[in-house]
Amino acid sequence: MEFKNILITGSGTGLGRAMAIRLAKEGHNLILNGRTESKLIETKEMLEGFGVRVLIKVGDVSDSNFVETMISEIVDEWGLLHIAINNAGISGTPTPIIDISEEDVQKIMDINFKGAWLVSKFAAQIMKKQRKLKPLRGKIINVSSMAGKEPMLLLGIYACSKAAIIMLTKSMAKELAPNITVNAICPGYHITPICNDDPNFIQNIIDNSTMKSLLKRIGTAEDVAGLISFLVSDDSNYMTGENVSIDGGVVLQ
Ligand SMILES: NC(=O)c1ccc[n+]([C@@H]2O[C@H](COP(=O)([O-])OP(=O)(O)OC[C@H]3O[C@@H](n4cnc5c(N)ncnc54)[C@H](OP(=O)(O)O)[C@@H]3O)[C@@H](O)[C@H]2O)c1
Repeated sequence: MEFKNILITGSGTGLGRAMAIRLAKEGHNLILNGRTESKLIETKEMLEGFGVRVLIKVGDVSDSNFVETMISEIVDEWGLLHIAINNAGISGTPTPIIDISEEDVQKIMDINFKGAWLVSKFAAQIMKKQRKLKPLRGKIINVSSMAGKEPMLLLGIYACSKAAIIMLTKSMAKELAPNITVNAICPGYHITPICNDDPNFIQNIIDNSTMKSLLKRIGTAEDVAGLISFLVSDDSNYMTGENVSIDGGVVLQ
C-alpha cells in the first residue's frame, strides 16, 4: 500500500482528531490544522507510536493568505499533497434564522464554506501538477453534514453552509475530473465539542437521534473515521462528486 500525505483541517478535536488517529494507524503522514495549537499538539501526541510523520499548521482556514502559505509549505516540506480533508467547521449558537446576526452568518459561511473552498482551491492547484501520481493526482474530501440535506431547527445557516459544500463538491468534481476526485461525507449526530458542551443541546440531539436514526444510536467519531479511511483508500478511486451520508439512516435519499 502507498502511504499518503494527508491534510486534515480542524484536527485538534472531535471528528478530525478521530480521522487523524485512524489514518495514522494505517500508516499515512498527516498535516494537522486548526486555530488552537495546544489541541493540535494533543492530537500529535496521540499519534506517537504509529511511526508516521506529522506536521502542525496553526491557522484559520477562512484566511486566504494563511491557506495559500500552508499548502505551499506542505509541498515545500513533503513534496506531495495526496489528499486534503476539509473538516474544519463551526455550528454557531443555535438561533432562529430570523434572529441570527449578520456577523454570525458571515462567520459560519466564512469558516464552513469559504474555508473549504480556499483549501480545495490551493490544494487542487498543486495537485493538478502532480503528474507522477497515478491514476489520480489527488483527492479532496469535504465534511458536509446531514444538515446539508435536511433542514435542522435553529441551525438553519449552518445547514445552508453545509448544503453549499455539497454543491461545491459536485462543481469541483466536474471541473477537476479526471485527475482529481472530490467527494463529501454527510455525518449525522455525533457528540463532539461542536455541540458547545451544552447539556440541553446534547439531550436534544440524543432525543432526536433515537427518534429518527434507523439504527437507534448516535454515531461515533470512529464511524466517521472508517468512512474517511475508505475515501482515502484506492478502493474509492472510481467515486467522484458523491455526498455520502453516515447518519444511521436519518436522511434517506
Ligand atoms: N459532530 C457532529 O454531529 C457533526 C455532524 C455533521 C457534520 N459535522 C462536521 O464535522 C466537522 C468536525 O466537527 P466536530 O463535530 O468534530 O466538531 P469540533 O470538535 O468542534 O471540530 C471542529 C474543529 O474545527 C476547528 N476549526 C474551527 N474553525 C476553524 C477555522 N476557522 N480554521 C481552522 N480550524 C477551525 C476547531 O478547532 P479550533 O477552534 O482550535 O480552530 C475544531 O478542532 C465540522 O465541519 C462539522 O460541521 C459534525
